[in-house]
Amino acid sequence: MKYNFDKIINRRGTNSYKWDLAKDDDVIPLWVADMDFEVCPAITEALRARIDHPVFGYTLVPDSYYESVIAWFKRRHDWKVQRDWILYTSGVVPAVSCAIKALTLPGEKVLLQTPAYNCFFSSIRNQGCEVVENELKRDGDTYKIDFEDFERKAADDKVTVFLLCNPHNPCGRVWTQEELTWMFNICRKHHVRVISDEIHGEIIMPGNHFTPFATISKEAQDEAIILNSPSKAFNIAGLQIANIICKDRDIRRRIDRVINIYEVCDVNPFGVIALQAAYNNGDEWLDQLNEYIWENYQYLKKFIYEELPQIEVVRLEGTYLAWLDIMGYELTSDEAYEKLLHDGKVFLSSGTLYGRKSGEGYLRINLACPRETLKKGLIRMGRILSQYSQDQEDLGCPM
Ligand SMILES: Cc1ncc(COP(=O)(O)O)c(C=O)c1O
Repeated sequence: MKYNFDKIINRRGTNSYKWDLAKDDDVIPLWVADMDFEVCPAITEALRARIDHPVFGYTLVPDSYYESVIAWFKRRHDWKVQRDWILYTSGVVPAVSCAIKALTLPGEKVLLQTPAYNCFFSSIRNQGCEVVENELKRDGDTYKIDFEDFERKAADDKVTVFLLCNPHNPCGRVWTQEELTWMFNICRKHHVRVISDEIHGEIIMPGNHFTPFATISKEAQDEAIILNSPSKAFNIAGLQIANIICKDRDIRRRIDRVINIYEVCDVNPFGVIALQAAYNNGDEWLDQLNEYIWENYQYLKKFIYEELPQIEVVRLEGTYLAWLDIMGYELTSDEAYEKLLHDGKVFLSSGTLYGRKSGEGYLRINLACPRETLKKGLIRMGRILSQYSQDQEDLGCPM
C-alpha cells in the first residue's frame, strides 16, 4: 500500500473527543465514528498552504468548491449534480435538523429505521416531531427491511418525512437499488418526503455497491433531499463542512431559510479547502482506506470466531462501524459496555444508544484504526468477556 494506515499516531492531549473523553490514559477508544489515520496528504498540503496566509477571516465558498463536489459525484457515483442544487452547511447533523425543520410542522412524525444513529432521535425531537420506528429485522448475519411495517407506518397521515441512513449506521447495510426503490415508491404513494443521509457512502466493502438515493430514478432525484460530506471518509469531521443536495427549488429555498435562521450558513475556510483537496485528489487514498478497513474487519471476524465465539458479527457491507451481537452473554448492552470500559479499559458503544429496544444485545465497534490498536482492544475485550463466561460457569456449577 502506498499509504501507511498502520502508523500509530498519539492523539491523547489533542482535545480529541474520541481519545480524551475518557480521563484514564490507558483506555483504548473504539467508539465514536472518527478515524485514527493520518488524513490524505493532499488535504494536509492544501491546509498547510492556506495556513501560510496568516489571516483567518470569514470565507466565501468559491466556484471551485462546487466544481469539486460535482466532479466527485459524477466520477465516483455516476450522479450528475447541478451547482444550484447544492447548499453547504457546517455538518450533516445540522443539515438533518434543518431539513426536518423545513419539511415538517411540530407534532408531525418522522419515520426512522432502527437501530439508528443516535443524533437522529434528537434531531427529530428537537424540531417538535415524533419518531416513528420501522425496526430493521435481523436475518442471519444481516438486516432486512420489514416492508409491511414500513408501509403501515408511512401511511399514517402524520408521518411526513422518512429519514434514511444510506449506508446504514449502525447495521452496516448498503441498501440496494431495489430496496431504495421500494422505500421510495411507498413514500411517494403516501406523500412522505425522503431525506437521505449519505455520509457513509464512501466506505463500501468489496462486493457491495453504494447507490446514491437520487440516482434510483428521475422522480427520486426530483424530490429527495440528499445529505453528504467528505467528513467520515476523509476524517475531517472537526473541520465542519457538509452539503445538502436538493433539486426541488421550493424545498431548497425552505431549507436554505432554516439554515440561515439556525445560523449554520457560515462555514470555516479550512473545511472548504479540505473538501476540495479530498474530492479532487483523494481517490487513491480512499480506495486504499477501504481495503484497510476491510482487512480490519476480516481480522475482527477471525479474532471473534477463535476467541469469543459467543459473539456474532453482523455482516459489514459499508461504514467502518461493526455491529456485534452479544446476546450469547447474559449481559445487557449497557452492562457489557460498562464492564469493558471500566474493567477492560476498552471503550465501545452500547447498542442501546441506537435504539433502546432495537439496539439491546449489541455493541458497536469502530474499525478505523491501525490494526495494532484494534488488536489491543480486542485482546482486552477477549480477556473481560472470557473471564465473565468463566465466572458464570463457576457460579452455575455448585461444588
Ligand atoms: C449517519 C450519520 N450522520 C451524521 C453524522 C455526523 O455528521 P456531522 O459530524 O457532519 O454532523 C454521523 C456521525 O457518525 C453519522 O453516522
